[in-house]
Amino acid sequence: MDKWRNRFDKFYDWIKPIVFSITKKNPEQAHWAFTNFCQTLNYLELDKKVLDNESNQKTPPWKISNAAGFNKNAEFSSRIIEYLGFDRMVVGTATADEWKGNVKPRIIRFPESDSMVNWMGLPGIGAERVARRLQNQGNEGIPITINLMSTPEKSGKDMLRDLEKTVLSSRYVPRVDRFELNISCPNIWGNNNKMDVRTKYRGQLKNMLDIVKKGMTDSQDLYIKVSPDLCERDVDEILRACEAYDVRGFTTTNTTTNHNPRYIPKSPDKGGASGNAVYKDSIRVQELFADRTDAKLIACGGINSITRARERCSIGNTSEIQLYTPIIFSGPKLLRNLREAI
Ligand SMILES: Cc1cc2nc3c(=O)[nH]c(=O)nc-3n(C[C@H](O)[C@H](O)[C@H](O)COP(=O)(O)O)c2cc1C
Repeated sequence: MDKWRNRFDKFYDWIKPIVFSITKKNPEQAHWAFTNFCQTLNYLELDKKVLDNESNQKTPPWKISNAAGFNKNAEFSSRIIEYLGFDRMVVGTATADEWKGNVKPRIIRFPESDSMVNWMGLPGIGAERVARRLQNQGNEGIPITINLMSTPEKSGKDMLRDLEKTVLSSRYVPRVDRFELNISCPNIWGNNNKMDVRTKYRGQLKNMLDIVKKGMTDSQDLYIKVSPDLCERDVDEILRACEAYDVRGFTTTNTTTNHNPRYIPKSPDKGGASGNAVYKDSIRVQELFADRTDAKLIACGGINSITRARERCSIGNTSEIQLYTPIIFSGPKLLRNLREAI
């Protein structure tokens, strides 16, 4: 079984510089190339043979899922996600309406520091279509998290109705056992582009939690995905808002607007940085939550080695990790390595 996966991982390492060079101006194309390749394997029923491997039978001390954005519209089937080496599939950010997001290009890679900056702006095909895709993937397989937020540019009651629609359209999809409310996207601006909506979302958190909670089934859990740019007061504010809503945990963290020149030598002056560029801020915020709550924490941001996974899982009540940028730079073999940890 591992013979094919070894070849696949080596092929990724071999083709990566070529793909990076071809897609330098629009890195999104590399994502679509990888998606299409995996979908073709799936269509030809070669995905099990090529991707599945012995390390998927191992149970490392952490559960691994893809971070949001990697499988926005459920373009990867959960079979592929599982064979790649994930224990859980995160879909989204899903918004109720279809949304085009910002003008392309909207991602920059920084291969010299294994970091990226993106200002995607939550593009997506709309929650109902995502739900139908997931429905077609059947009852069998790994659990699914729906990461959700309202369609950008909606506010007040419209925003709440939007969130409600997304929850209602996906709550009975088989294997959806968790919702992850994304209040931390740094790429959405309100009030005529003057206000970072992360501040606005924090102010309306109670209303959002109320509507999402009411839509979920009793067996589903609610998590919140937070920003690495929070200070102590912000964390206290979030935890206070969560008190009445049985929030099961926090995903720490999304991308950062702190573009440290050590990792991001030429900042585009917009967007959120990920990979190595967010690692320190992610840990800082994870620790702020760990100091204040016993809720579950999911570590996310720059986890590119067993050492980093260990470090993050030693903080508070953390036994899950999410990955996006490190997979792009290290390749899917990172998943095999992380599963080999004892
Ligand atoms: C291209 C790209 C798109 C992303 N889209 C989303 C998104 O739609 N929703 C979300 O909650 N996070 C999104 N993220 C943030 C990631 O889920 C993750 O929180 C962040 O990148 C830090 O983890 P990493 O260093 O493993 O990438 C995106 C990240 C990248 C690089």
